[in-house]
Amino acid sequence: MIFILIGYMASGKSTIGRILAKKMDYEFIDLDDFIEKNEKMPVSDIFKTKGEIYFRKKESEYLKKLISEKRNIVLSLGGGAPCYNSNMQAILNTGEAVSVYLKASIATLVSRLKKEKVTRPLVSHIETDDGLAEFIAKHLFERGQFYNLAHEVVSTDGKTENQIVEELVTTL
Ligand code: S3P
Repeated sequence: MIFILIGYMASGKSTIGRILAKKMDYEFIDLDDFIEKNEKMPVSDIFKTKGEIYFRKKESEYLKKLISEKRNIVLSLGGGAPCYNSNMQAILNTGEAVSVYLKASIATLVSRLKKEKVTRPLVSHIETDDGLAEFIAKHLFERGQFYNLAHEVVSTDGKTENQIVEELVTTL
């Protein structure tokens, strides 16, 4: 089975995915790391030198390849992955995958993202907390329609990593 974690940047997909995979004795794959390894370039450099459209194309190709392999994996996606190139539809159509939207509040996302902006080309230019909050709110409004197609939605605010993982295990 493939267990897919989706959600906004800095919602905890990779951290939670790693713990969940260990607990389930599944392989863990972070799609951005997978892209970086295969493209031999950090995501921020792919955006800079080849552009976002190229990144989205590769993101979709690698995602579709991984879900077609039918291995036991926990797969964390980049925040935009569910929203482009019918990727969410591909996930829902496999029948082999369970997807979960890790939902976090705008305040939580702002406080995490402001410390981790450099590696994230979409927000690296935003200087203030208010600017980040405004950007995230607008983005979530557009992306929510894709995120909410996930099989399950788990709210993460105020919960420890272990509590979130326990909740995920019981939804399986
Ligand atoms: C993106 C999120 C990033 C990465 C890229 C674009 C997005 O992944 O894929 O910078 O569009 O939200 P994380 O969600 O792991 O930060």
